[in-house]
Amino acid sequence: MAMSHVLPQNWIVTDGRASVGGVDLAALAERFGTPVFVIDVAHVRQRLTAFSDAVGSLGPPAYAAKAFLCIAMAELVSEADWWIDVVSVGEAEAAERGGIASDRIMLHGNLKTAQELELVLSGRVGRLVIDSLDELARLDRLASERGVDVDVLIRLNEDVDLATHPKVLTSGQEAKFGLVGDQAAEAAALLAGSERLRWRGVHLHVGSQAADPELFAIVLERLVDFVERHRAAFSGDEVILDIGGGMAAPYLRDDPVLHPADLGARLHMAATSLRIEERIGPFRLIIEPGRAVIANAGVTLYEVGVRKPLPSGGELVAVDGGMTDNPRPALYGSRYEVLAVTRMDDPHDHPVRLFGRMCETDVLAESIGIPEDLSVGDIVAFAATGAYTYSMSSRYNLLRRPPVIFVEDGVARQVVRRESIDDLFSGDSGLTGAEVWQYDPTGSNRAEGY
Ligand SMILES: Cc1ncc(COP(=O)(O)O)c(C=O)c1O
Repeated sequence: MAMSHVLPQNWIVTDGRASVGGVDLAALAERFGTPVFVIDVAHVRQRLTAFSDAVGSLGPPAYAAKAFLCIAMAELVSEADWWIDVVSVGEAEAAERGGIASDRIMLHGNLKTAQELELVLSGRVGRLVIDSLDELARLDRLASERGVDVDVLIRLNEDVDLATHPKVLTSGQEAKFGLVGDQAAEAAALLAGSERLRWRGVHLHVGSQAADPELFAIVLERLVDFVERHRAAFSGDEVILDIGGGMAAPYLRDDPVLHPADLGARLHMAATSLRIEERIGPFRLIIEPGRAVIANAGVTLYEVGVRKPLPSGGELVAVDGGMTDNPRPALYGSRYEVLAVTRMDDPHDHPVRLFGRMCETDVLAESIGIPEDLSVGDIVAFAATGAYTYSMSSRYNLLRRPPVIFVEDGVARQVVRRESIDDLFSGDSGLTGAEVWQYDPTGSNRAEGY
């Protein structure tokens, strides 16, 4: 597989210098500082269109917000006429601010708080994906008390064979998500008897980094079988069959790629061979890719800060970011392609161990090749860092979260600015400014909304 699959589509090298979307990366780093997340907007648009075209009339895809979300991203999702899957009030807010209509927002999550349930009770979010019988009972009670109808899907937990990292395997024996066999059947029966909850469809997200379209055809079959068995409980004209996300994105040049067109072709074939319409009536098929849309559109730029020998032999390089802007190497041992953006014509074959700058042994890359004369002050790009980096970033060591820059046609737009020192302390009042609450042992102390 070529490196080009890993990089943003509009990554170009001229005279040894890399640019994305017509913007020179070293110049961008100078203008906005490092670390910095850079997103190739045309790449994102192309991926959104490719998945839309691939599923075609089967139904609009839904973007998995957890991969990467800011208002500008929600605007791109909205422009593409996609739905969106959110898991928190914050993600729902970003979706709304990006112009996504409530009937296109779906709420997921294995544990939804009172505030999150309120999103569907108040109509800010159009559909909720039920993850447990406890949640179903709670939502049913709240919907009856409020006298509002709520559209729901049932999330199934089925054993489907996917070889992936255990932390991104979300179905099967060890998974916390969804309802297994009898419980799922009970959910369908409870929904049939509910005055206020309307059963609109089923959902199954197996896990991430699935490169074989066959897996999604199997998931579709499981969903159709389930709905067919419980058709009597269904309360709508059109069944939503949501086969989840997890479409693979290549991180390294030899990683497998799932082409949207291949996925689409397999799903169209399955829709016919499973005789879905005949068995369960009209349906809408939803896919929920996250990383497959955004991972390869993004690169993170860091400045090289240290080069020195490792006590064990070899050499180390440290850059000015790390597990605060990208926890994936620490969480999953994830690996990346690393490129020196002003030395692209030099062979990247000098082996080093690459560290971040946090107060941990935060290895960002165990063994990578860099140009022999890479120097302090040079800028390196980590490829395929559009997904699960900004969205997973933290303020460990009281570091400020980096900005997000959208680049297109030679223009860089800072859609999220770097956090300021004041941002770091916006909720930190110190002892004297603290909100004070005197515990009352006789009264009700339960605060709403936590
Ligand atoms: C319900 C659901 N849908 C979609 C996704 C997106 O996964 P990916 O970004 O791998 O496509 C996730 C990821 O955890 C998920 O939990």
